[in-house]
Amino acid sequence: MEHVWLTVLGISGLLLLAVLVWPLASRLSFPYTVLLAVVGCGLGFLKHALPESVSMGAASDLLEALHTLDITSEAVLFVFLPALVFESALAIDVRRLLEDIAPILMLAVVGLLISTAVVGFSLHAVSGVGILVCLLLGAIVSATDPVAVVAIFKDLGAPKRLAILVEGESLFNDATAIVVFTILSAMVLGQSDAGLVSGVGAFLKVFFGGIAVGYLLARIATWLLDQLGDATLPRITLTLSLAYLSFLLAEHYLHVSGVMAVVTAALVLGSRGRSLFTRDAWHELEGVWEQVGFVANSVIFVLVGVAVPAILADFSSREWLWLGVLLVAAFAARFALIFGLVPLLSRLGWAQSVQVGYRAVMFWGGLRGAVSLALALAVMENDAFAPEIRTFVGTLVTAFVLFTLAVNATTVKWVMRAFGLDQLSAADQVLRQRAVQQARERVGRELETAARAAKLPTELAAEVAGPYQQEIGSGGNGDLNSETWMNLGLKALLHREQQIYQGFFDHRLIHSDISRRLLDQVNDIQDGTKGGGVEGYRRAWEQSLELGWQIRLAARAQQRLGVTSMLANRLGQRFTLLQATCMALEELAHGRVAAEVADPSVAPQLEAALKERLDASNQALECLRAAYPDYAAQLERTLLEQMALRVEAGEYRDMLAGSVINKDVYSELLQEVETREEEIRRPTLDLGLEAHRLVARMPFFADLDEATQQEVVKLLKPRLALPGEQVITQGEKGDCMYFISSGAACVLLDPEPVILGRGDFFGEMALLESVPRKVSVISEGFCDLLILATGDFNTLLDAHPALRTTIERVARERSG
Ligand code: CMP
Repeated sequence: MEHVWLTVLGISGLLLLAVLVWPLASRLSFPYTVLLAVVGCGLGFLKHALPESVSMGAASDLLEALHTLDITSEAVLFVFLPALVFESALAIDVRRLLEDIAPILMLAVVGLLISTAVVGFSLHAVSGVGILVCLLLGAIVSATDPVAVVAIFKDLGAPKRLAILVEGESLFNDATAIVVFTILSAMVLGQSDAGLVSGVGAFLKVFFGGIAVGYLLARIATWLLDQLGDATLPRITLTLSLAYLSFLLAEHYLHVSGVMAVVTAALVLGSRGRSLFTRDAWHELEGVWEQVGFVANSVIFVLVGVAVPAILADFSSREWLWLGVLLVAAFAARFALIFGLVPLLSRLGWAQSVQVGYRAVMFWGGLRGAVSLALALAVMENDAFAPEIRTFVGTLVTAFVLFTLAVNATTVKWVMRAFGLDQLSAADQVLRQRAVQQARERVGRELETAARAAKLPTELAAEVAGPYQQEIGSGGNGDLNSETWMNLGLKALLHREQQIYQGFFDHRLIHSDISRRLLDQVNDIQDGTKGGGVEGYRRAWEQSLELGWQIRLAARAQQRLGVTSMLANRLGQRFTLLQATCMALEELAHGRVAAEVADPSVAPQLEAALKERLDASNQALECLRAAYPDYAAQLERTLLEQMALRVEAGEYRDMLAGSVINKDVYSELLQEVETREEEIRRPTLDLGLEAHRLVARMPFFADLDEATQQEVVKLLKPRLALPGEQVITQGEKGDCMYFISSGAACVLLDPEPVILGRGDFFGEMALLESVPRKVSVISEGFCDLLILATGDFNTLLDAHPALRTTIERVARERSG
């Protein structure tokens, strides 16, 4: 640690350089990272060119510092790569990634292997260098780096799907390339057998092992995040630690893919962990990661540039030829993959089709960057490789990366322009037009009032507002048909709905697991709408209201094993979900959001679609409320208590902002609010499924004396029937009868079904007459039943002739 100050000087100087390059890059509209590498290159040459004796004080110290900043492959792999990979994966929309996972994985895994082989064999044929070394080089140059392209996408407003395809591919193929690299270098060094089968086996182990490590650590991290509560700083720090620990645990300790571990960890955090953060906290987290990614990228590209002159010093005409072959082989392989493999996938129905413009950009935008360079450096630094291998890999890879940065990165925007991918889609254009129109109308309405309030001349305000007014007339609604408008409206509504749930979570009205479920629910509905418009929307929300498999499973467990807690939990959760859904939909309906987000031509239709969903959700909630009114009241009470506390805390915040109270008073008041908040207990749902409680509610057994009642309680088994559940199926053999303790059941008689309510019984006929069930019976809503098995039925009726008489009389009436 002799030269710590020199390292600090180097890094801070480098960051300053990055900061200065940034505005230059945007003024020249040149990719930032490429410009950084160019500047780095310049510094490298300067260092070479300047004789040792020339001293320029701090400036030459700085140059010296930059030069001594040793960019080792380990530094890139262990310091920069986890940060870069984590940041890109965190920003990816996992659902959209999954939609295109087939082409992405195909390109990242199969594509990388094919490209490795094409490059390897071509170079081997021309250079005569060993095939394993050439394959190694092939793997290194096949790892694409999205950084520069994605930045261009952002600038030009490229379609989201294109960005996901490019970014997804590069995330996964970095991992594949590193795995293939590790396997091949072991083979080159004679540390493992050069066999295809052992190679494939090792590949699968390392690839999926990495996924498992990432998943596991991310789940532990999400659990910890939940435990940490609102403490944003430690929570963000935890994500930093997650990125590095998953990489190290996988790569260093378990010898599986570190990049796959980091990718998986970030994807899990991005999808599951997101609901653990309030919106502000998540933005903060994203900001921190963006910053880390920016710094890592800046440092890496300058340092790469600085190292370039030394590496390229070995370049001779022979290398130029090899570079030519490498370029042709690598681009030909990529072309074949993107224009051959990707369309094949969609033809086979394994993936959605990818339009030709996207493919052109994916082809030309497949830049190489940090990962390729790090792997090349790893070869160059490893003394176990023969010196000529080290130079061969080092020079060719560096030259290749520079080529893609200098040529592809700077020209990919032309490819995008050529295919019109830098323009808004027709729908977005109309939306843009509408937004402009709305904003202008508002200017027209409000400018005069604002001017008057600020005591500015109103004539002047009228003059400024004039041009806005004129343009209003010229903005039309475009030529979108009503179906597209409707889809846009639904999309906007669903987006608002998500925001409302986020708001509920931010205000602690719902817990993180409920908010995650609600957001997932909206995502599912969004998916349905994307594929099927209004119909798809309806189908998707209908499905979201159905009783899920977990509830059914829990009901089974209650029925078979008598375990009620699982069912109570699930139903309690359904209660909360429905309550939040109804509140959000109500807010959307009453806020007349449909009219705001949609074109007037479809607003009424959109409102009707929303209303239909609201009614159905209310009905589902009502159904639960009817069965468990006490619980419903308790839930509503806690909700109101939470709301009250939020209002109170908001008021204190306003007072702090308005300097009515100081920070100390505010903290104390807030603390007090939080203490009270902790005291609010979430109610637990009591299903009341105990035989004695249910029997007590039955008028049928009311006349029996105490002892007989207790005897009856022992014989009856409680069971909750779910809404619509078929309790009795016509034609089946009967082995029990049922008493309804609460709720109702519907006997499906032809032509008119008969509804039986509390205190009624059914299923007695099959037992009395020893015949199959005469008719099916289904449960209306939630229905508490008491089951009496055949054996007990006979015992009970023999012991109590009065009961027998009643049951037989009812059965006679029913058959007559
Ligand atoms: P079981 O035949 O065992 O199964 C179907 C049950 O539906 C039957 O017993 C009766 O309990 C009930 N059921 C049949 N007919 C009527 C009816 N007319 N009114 C009410 N319930 C009936």
